[in-house]
Amino acid sequence: METKPNSDGAALGMVGLGVMGRNLLLNLADHGFAVAGYDKDPAKVAALRQEAQSPAVRAAGDVAGFIALLSRPRAIMMLVPAGAPVDAVIADLRPHLETGDLIIDAGNSYFKDTERRARDLTAAGLQFLGVGVSGGESGARHGPSIMPGGPREAYERVRPLLEAAAAKVGSDPCVTYLGPGSAGHFVKMVHNGIEYAVMQILAEAYDLMKRGAGDDDDAIAEAFAAWNQGELNGYLMEITATIFRRPDEKTGRRLVDQIVGVAAQNGTGKWTSESAMDLQVTTPTIDIAVAIRSLSVLTAERTRAAAALARPLRPLGGGRAALRAQIGGAIGCAILIAYAQGLALLQAASAKYVYQYSLEAVARIWRGGCIIRAALLEDIRNAYRAQPNLPNLLLDGALAAKVLATEEALRQVAAAAAGAGIPVPALMASLSYLDSYRSAWLPANLIQAQRDYFGSHTYERIDAKGTFHTDWDNQGNR
Ligand code: 6PG
Repeated sequence: METKPNSDGAALGMVGLGVMGRNLLLNLADHGFAVAGYDKDPAKVAALRQEAQSPAVRAAGDVAGFIALLSRPRAIMMLVPAGAPVDAVIADLRPHLETGDLIIDAGNSYFKDTERRARDLTAAGLQFLGVGVSGGESGARHGPSIMPGGPREAYERVRPLLEAAAAKVGSDPCVTYLGPGSAGHFVKMVHNGIEYAVMQILAEAYDLMKRGAGDDDDAIAEAFAAWNQGELNGYLMEITATIFRRPDEKTGRRLVDQIVGVAAQNGTGKWTSESAMDLQVTTPTIDIAVAIRSLSVLTAERTRAAAALARPLRPLGGGRAALRAQIGGAIGCAILIAYAQGLALLQAASAKYVYQYSLEAVARIWRGGCIIRAALLEDIRNAYRAQPNLPNLLLDGALAAKVLATEEALRQVAAAAAGAGIPVPALMASLSYLDSYRSAWLPANLIQAQRDYFGSHTYERIDAKGTFHTDWDNQGNR
């Protein structure tokens, strides 16, 4: 594509030339935008110069030099690790900026930090956008899903760039304005929460096949690849199939089997669970996915427990083909329920934090580019198109039918796993959520009685208005 004239400077500057920043910048340059990059690390500046080989991409190793490369009013995006580095970059930039300049934080920032930064920068006459970007390295280079939040006029300024850089589904770019303040970072956070849940569910499917059915890596790869061909199609399913086929150059075995089973995390999943608790939204599949990553870290302790609490695993019964079909149904059901939990959180947050985004739009921009892109998102989009205020996807007719068609598989797999001793916490969390959510009666009357018993917290009656308290120790009224 032809390079747009750069007589008075770059249309966008990027601070942070790590994997994501560099690739997003090169993506923008591919679409004809003059861009400039800056990083404190001279090696990263040199790498950008080397890789770009185009006059549309310029690079600087100091802030003043970088600022001088930008057209005014300036638009500066940063892609640096969440937390203190974001504040440090803002502090470095501020002395060089003028009223009307725009800062875009495209990292995985905590949404409350984004709110604070938006307040501070707005008060100083600067514009600020908090933008979630999903898709990893290849997404950044070839088309990510982009989730922007902040003042609409600031979004409109950079909209052509973001629409050009974003993934496309057909001709539809996977980016849209989501709402004020931290709307974009909140949506990205929940995207990651769902990502954690799906990854945990796929890990449990792997365990069921490996330790439960005795499948080898080829058979496991084949199962994930087959699921990816059907209704369970999605990016995480696809890469999982590929992972099981990858040989280890060092040993000649499969690489996945050489990897230490300790899962790292950078916080977005935990923030999703915390936010859900704050808003009293129930997201147990996401919660357990975060918690099990934490448990995975306790290698020495688990080794000790393996001896202290030994119980041999029993193989899963049933034929291989039947078992695989059942596991496919189970994970399809559990994954749908995990999306339902995440989107219920987004629905509640939209009202509470006055984001007012459309969940149809969120589903639309998640269909391409992002890590949780999946065929299911088309059905989710249709559900919100029909009922924009749907509190929970499980109340949509078509999605409810999918759940009902697969819940027996989930139930049977969860029961078989319990018998075999194979941990499937995310599958069980999804199943228990389903059974609780669709239960018009829950045993919470007992909890209210207990609260009133020990703390005089009062309760409501089913047959009279008002609040009541009972002196539970006094048996006099018998
Ligand atoms: C994405 C990913 C990306 C990153 C996660 C990983 O959407 O492109 O979610 O943001 O890979 O932050 O998170 P953990 O390190 O917490 O697993």
